Amino acid sequence: MMSRRPLVAGNWKMNLTRAEGKALLAEVSSAIHPNVDVLVFPSFTLVPVLAGQGVPVGAQDVFWADRGAFTSQISAPMVRDAGAVAVLIGHSETRGRFGKLEVPPSTVNSFGETNETVRLKIAAALKEGLSVILCVGESLAEREAEQTEAVIREQLVSALSGLSLEEVTIAYEPVWAIGTGKTCEPGEAERICAMIRSVLASLGNAEAAEKVRILYGGSMKADNAAQLLAQPNIDGGLVGGASLVAADFKSIIEAAAHAQGS
Ligand code: PGA
Repeated sequence: MMSRRPLVAGNWKMNLTRAEGKALLAEVSSAIHPNVDVLVFPSFTLVPVLAGQGVPVGAQDVFWADRGAFTSQISAPMVRDAGAVAVLIGHSETRGRFGKLEVPPSTVNSFGETNETVRLKIAAALKEGLSVILCVGESLAEREAEQTEAVIREQLVSALSGLSLEEVTIAYEPVWAIGTGKTCEPGEAERICAMIRSVLASLGNAEAAEKVRILYGGSMKADNAAQLLAQPNIDGGLVGGASLVAADFKSIIEAAAHAQGS
């Protein structure tokens, strides 16, 4: 039985106008379940529009400095001021580790996230009292080269060493499964999530590591969520495409509630 309270988070990515976002959020708020935490990560422009409407809202990224000459960037105090309670950090799309998207190699560097910038952003968000969802995961080439564990270990250790895990959630998102329709097989997702928990424990505090929620993300849908969420070390989902369809997102919330009760 899952002892951690499940969390289902919707990553809306670069989608939806204000009117569309409000309509979707209204539908999501009707699906809130007392045993499941729900969060949505809309685009920055929608954060102040949707905050305070019954479903907690997070930002998809933050810059690490609080203010200054950083044209185009948004800081942790700014997203908090806009009403965000959480931040997504280190998503593979901000790390420039694309799965499905065909991005010319020359443009990948414009995303330019590294484990070091991820760490700076986490520290900035925690300082501001925001909770953090840290995304980790391997590319297909790394999986095929049997580097999966090493890549994820490095992502975790370099991002989290010395930081409190209390407000941190990890999302395991195999890059090859994001937006591709290819889901990681539940047993394999569980194996990696259990490994993530043991790396967290090795960072210092086994008790804190037991409490950290670990989400699976990567083509989680209404029809595969139940099997994934039934795994002992998978405490919820980070949902992209299916979070834009109210009925699908609601089904995933229900699957999380059911996994909690089973
Ligand atoms: P997906 O995206 O569910 O569309 O695969 C997940 C994510 O990128 O967080």
